[in-house]
Amino acid sequence: MENKCLIVYESIYNGNTEKLARVMAHKLGCRFIRTKKALTEDLSQYKTIGFGSGIYFGSHHPDIFEVAEKLDHSAQDVFLFSSRGAPILGKYHQPLKNLLVGKGKKVVGEFSVRGYDETGPWVIIGGGNCGKPDEKDLKEAVKFVQRRLPQYCVPDYYKKIGKKSPIREGFINTYRLFEDNKEVLLKGDFVTINHSLCNGCGKCLKVCPLKVFELNDNKAVPQKELDCTLCRLCEINCVKRAISLHYNWRDTIKVAIRHGKKVSL
Ligand SMILES: Cc1cc2nc3c(=O)[nH]c(=O)nc-3n(C[C@H](O)[C@H](O)[C@H](O)COP(=O)(O)O)c2cc1C
Repeated sequence: MENKCLIVYESIYNGNTEKLARVMAHKLGCRFIRTKKALTEDLSQYKTIGFGSGIYFGSHHPDIFEVAEKLDHSAQDVFLFSSRGAPILGKYHQPLKNLLVGKGKKVVGEFSVRGYDETGPWVIIGGGNCGKPDEKDLKEAVKFVQRRLPQYCVPDYYKKIGKKSPIREGFINTYRLFEDNKEVLLKGDFVTINHSLCNGCGKCLKVCPLKVFELNDNKAVPQKELDCTLCRLCEINCVKRAISLHYNWRDTIKVAIRHGKKVSL
């Protein structure tokens, strides 16, 4: 068994749990797949598997149970996550947890947040948990995997930087990072591309509405980065999880000013 991680999820109602699965997988540098796909895969090759779904009538989605049922009794770590309508988690994870523990799996953590819900008593007031899971919940989801599964988390390349070499005159926070004479990271003003992951598929070129990217030596480069609106489509659509956006509140003001002057694409 390789030291690999996978997330299996189901999110049939509002896509609330899918949001959690996406950010967790991004941080863990792993795939997140729906149960239908999981049923066609050999899950014994994964050292750690995360199982998540919305809570429907008191427990995880039946298809998550179906996937869990198919696991063999090999030693694997698992974690459980969910989004739910109720203010507290209570015993909602217990049925899935019992099944997994019964299969000899070690539960390394559990995570749950509230998700938008229009069912049951929420009908009376037109829905509850509006906007949830929100940005704060997603950050908590990332923190959860950082705490429980640090061994898989995508390394923070910034911490490794000893010397910064600006890639644009006058922009001191942009730099390239080399490892063994190979460029592994290009940190721009807002867009960072991990070139050791980028496979030059060109998806970011297609999805970016502002045409910020170009391919250079089969690697994506944010050539017109100062046009970036921070929409995150590149980050979300990058199959290799090679792109990340980073900015502080001062940057967002600069972006707002620049885009305030624009009148068309
Ligand atoms: C049919 C149905 C049953 C639900 N049952 C519960 C429940 O028993 N307890 C609860 O806290 N939330 C319940 N919810 C709310 C969902 O758990 C919540 O909206 C969740 O975020 C949905 O996740 P999803 O968008 O990923 O499907 C239910 C929702 C639906 C549609």
